Amino acid sequence: MTTYKTEFQRSIEQPDAFWAEQARRIPWFTPPSTILEYDEQDHARWFVDGELNICHAALDHHVDNGRGEQPAVFWDSPVSGGKRTLSYREMRDEVARVAGALRGLGVEKGDRVVIYMPMVPEALMAMYACARLGAVHSVVFGGFAPHELAVRIDDAKPKVVMAASCGVEIDRVIPYKPILDEAVAQSEHQPDACMILQRERQTATLGTRDRDWAELVAEAEPADCVPVKGSDPLYVLYTSGTTGKPKGVVRDTGGYAVALHYSMETIYDVAPGDVFFSASDVGWVVGHSYIVYAPLLRGCTTVVYEGKPVKTPDAGAFWRLISEYRVKSFFTAPTAFRAIKKEDPDGKLLDQYDISCLQALFLAGERLDPPTFHWLDDLLDVPVIDHWWQTETGWPIAANLQGLEPMPTKAGSATVPVPGFDVRILDREGERAKPMEQGSVVIKQPLPPGCLTGIWGDPQRFHSAYMAAFPGYYLTGDGGYFDEDGYLFIMGRTDDVINVAGHRLSTGEMEEVVGAHPAVAECAVIGIHDALKGQVPVGLVIPKDGFEGDEAALEEELIDRVRRQIGPVACFKQVLVVNRLPKTRSGKILRKLLRNIADGKEYGVPSTIDDPASLEDVHEAMKERSVGASHEARPL
Ligand code: COA
Ligand code: AMP
Repeated sequence: MTTYKTEFQRSIEQPDAFWAEQARRIPWFTPPSTILEYDEQDHARWFVDGELNICHAALDHHVDNGRGEQPAVFWDSPVSGGKRTLSYREMRDEVARVAGALRGLGVEKGDRVVIYMPMVPEALMAMYACARLGAVHSVVFGGFAPHELAVRIDDAKPKVVMAASCGVEIDRVIPYKPILDEAVAQSEHQPDACMILQRERQTATLGTRDRDWAELVAEAEPADCVPVKGSDPLYVLYTSGTTGKPKGVVRDTGGYAVALHYSMETIYDVAPGDVFFSASDVGWVVGHSYIVYAPLLRGCTTVVYEGKPVKTPDAGAFWRLISEYRVKSFFTAPTAFRAIKKEDPDGKLLDQYDISCLQALFLAGERLDPPTFHWLDDLLDVPVIDHWWQTETGWPIAANLQGLEPMPTKAGSATVPVPGFDVRILDREGERAKPMEQGSVVIKQPLPPGCLTGIWGDPQRFHSAYMAAFPGYYLTGDGGYFDEDGYLFIMGRTDDVINVAGHRLSTGEMEEVVGAHPAVAECAVIGIHDALKGQVPVGLVIPKDGFEGDEAALEEELIDRVRRQIGPVACFKQVLVVNRLPKTRSGKILRKLLRNIADGKEYGVPSTIDDPASLEDVHEAMKERSVGASHEARPL
């Protein structure tokens, strides 16, 4: 670990010098003279006075330096039958025209643009076009419902919304335009215009506010890159918090570019010209960082995949893509491989492809569970690497650093903290935990470049959500421990955020939707273990006194409500009407206990419980309805 240890120590002891050096690796218009400073709340700000444009750094700079004819994007869409290769020059030129079209709609530096698009090259162009103008994009994942989109429109107040007419899932077309129309109808803020990409699979009827993407771009004057400050916002990405209101994570420009570039070398070990494939979606942080920005900042080719790990057409899809595009580094969520393993348990489909180009496989989004790790490790000849991060940090906090010093892997561990992240485990009192002792995983200030600089429109929330619990430390919301060798194990959230098929969701938000139903007196939504998706939500509902309706119909209605308000991505498919819920004497629902029962664990009955019989009732109800592994649960 010597190389790693030296680099890590330096990053913590001399953050200014360390990151100043890294900053020299990316092209600035004006290099920063101030590397690190602190704002009035003592939060780190990086490279505040440097000037750059990330679109220039990722596209124009490479075209100007001889990379113009190299593919920047391989787009592969088995669901729509499309394939397309775009060189750096083509991307730069197209992005410049899309930026010109946005400018024609009045978008200027600092304005927000909401992007609601599937995995098509135009989604990347839209993001880069915003960056080119210094506008702030906010991409919303296609699996969210109109209400969620409306909440984001109201919060970000975009001048323009960029959307596609439809997305394509495994077996059906999802019209995006009606979802957008409904969202705009629900939102108070009204964008000036919606720029609609008409896809062949299903075009949309355009209204008075809508503008046809192709027409606008054809008429547009290409726009040049607008210089922005290192600390100027590049994007806002909403993520689930513990309340119903999603948090708009604000990302700066300079720190992000420097951190992503560093990660491509140090963590992923890819060089300019290599092919990088991240099978995620532009709507998530993984997509922002490792489909859109990092690969192109590094001069790599990024694979943009509109498809699923299975059924498009089979569980060999990833192997096919790796082989066809000669992918060197591949990144996805463990849930995707659980889906593949279910369909092709012996990995037979791999025999059809030559994946000798692959150097390493990276997994994140949820903990790489040891069975999936072993399955992959046995199947492949390359390192299988779990690495841990979150929307807020924008890049990995812990990883096995392939470009610095590859280490032996340990099943269930994300290996070691990445240079820049001073990860600590604290107990309830805020004392540092000993090796093997589980506690709250925190990061000592300053957070390195690339991490969130605030919550959009709500500076206080940044402080209260992340900084207030342990002064001087950023609270990750995860629990975990270090082992005796300094390997970090992340064991799951300590709040009510759950992870469904690699998608981060809030049970608190689902409770708000369920609890708002007029027939519901009280409810709890818990995340229970699921063999495929990692976790899925289950609702437990007490109807109001005098409720005489049909319980099954109420359950259906609640499922439908969550689907309509949050979206299909919530995967909210099971609700149980119960008479009472186990609570403490002070009235707090014992959610952890409910989770343990649903997960089939032995559970203790706390002395603070108000009505022990309520527990038996709920356990019986869960068994009857086959909730999770509740039939295996036993009181201690
Ligand atoms: N637009 C519209 N709807 C979408 C969508 C999108 N972009 N993505 C998902 N949905 C819908 C799905 O159609 C599905 O709807 P349904 O309930 O009507 O069937 C629902 O949202 C849930 O989707 P998903 O969680 O993707 O479940 P699935 O059963 O279709 O697929 C997996 C399961 C494991 C194959 C899939 O979740 C997967 O590939 N996960 C990897 C996730 C990932 O890459 N995460 C990023 C972090 S790295
Ligand atoms: P998101 O913000 O959607 O990226 O989700 C972040 C959360 O996902 C983290 O706080 C963790 O709870 C979980 N997570 C992501 N990657 C990992 C990992 N490699 N190991 C354990 N948990 C992970």
